[in-house]
Amino acid sequence: MQPIYPLLFDTPIFFKGFRGSVNDDNNYLKMGKVFIITGSSQGIGREIAWQLAQKGAYVVLNGRNTKKLEETLHSFQNAQFNACAISGDVPNPNDCEKIISYGLNEYGRIDYLINNAGISAELSPLELLSPDVFKKVIDINVLGSVNMTITALPHIQKQKGGNLFISSLAGIYGLPKAAAYSTSKMALTALAESLKLELGSSGLYIGIAYLAFVENDKRKVVLNKDGKLISQPKFSFSKAKPVDEVASEIINMIENRIFKNHFSLVGKIFYFMKRLSPWLLEKIMLMINKNR
Ligand SMILES: NC(=O)c1ccc[n+]([C@@H]2O[C@H](COP(=O)([O-])OP(=O)(O)OC[C@H]3O[C@@H](n4cnc5c(N)ncnc54)[C@H](OP(=O)(O)O)[C@@H]3O)[C@@H](O)[C@H]2O)c1
Repeated sequence: MQPIYPLLFDTPIFFKGFRGSVNDDNNYLKMGKVFIITGSSQGIGREIAWQLAQKGAYVVLNGRNTKKLEETLHSFQNAQFNACAISGDVPNPNDCEKIISYGLNEYGRIDYLINNAGISAELSPLELLSPDVFKKVIDINVLGSVNMTITALPHIQKQKGGNLFISSLAGIYGLPKAAAYSTSKMALTALAESLKLELGSSGLYIGIAYLAFVENDKRKVVLNKDGKLISQPKFSFSKAKPVDEVASEIINMIENRIFKNHFSLVGKIFYFMKRLSPWLLEKIMLMINKNR
């Protein structure tokens, strides 16, 4: 039987996630902080970068497709934001070095890394999924975050900045027909928890955001079960949250140094039920699976 108090304190409703030391200064992000946001040429990463830049931060944009990245950079420059962009594939350690060095050369420091770049696979029973697709999802979502974090850590530690991971509902409970994505997002919890214990007391901020369904960029693609990129199928089972609201909540996490945040009511329910009644949650998940 679990003691009740850690359960309460590890709870978004009571505590809005775990807190580290809170930044009292509301202008914190305006003080020339430099952010690297992986996968920020579109979607959630782009919106996080946009809102940070609006607040006066310096942002380093990233993605693999240079044309898309350049278009995004132009939109930031047109808005007179402090932004630069560097292409790079996050599972590749050499590319991670290149991204970090570029940020350092442009702005002289790196305060925060937001590990946002990610890919998902189309819903599929595990036995029909190509092992290469599973590997690709792990490579980008897990090793991409690991490589970027290892490379950025000495620099963000120097600034007492922070490192945030973008996870998902699938990082709270393994979703049916999404084994690869769930495995990858749960691994980020282990990474964030280890890092917080290793480095949290040194003044570094570590956070992990469990997003639910977010309005997708029209260009969003996912891997099909054979490894081809296809357009993201529409969510039919839940209302997606506007991307600007999600980005603003993510920035609030950083400003208030919140360790874990579950973004939607569904996420909060998942989280509670997993702790209080895993049996009931499993029954609900089985019912949802039957209807998909
Ligand atoms: N959308 C949702 O409902 C939702 C829900 C929960 C969690 N999330 C998580 O939120 C994050 C962003 O999702 P999103 O919906 O905004 O995705 P998205 O629209 O597909 O954007 C992904 C971004 O990552 C870049 N990227 C992909 N692979 C990369 C790689 N190997 N190296 C560097 N950049 C890479 C993409 O650009 P290139 O293709 O040019 O590289 C793009 O800029 C992901 O981690 C996702 O798992 C999303």
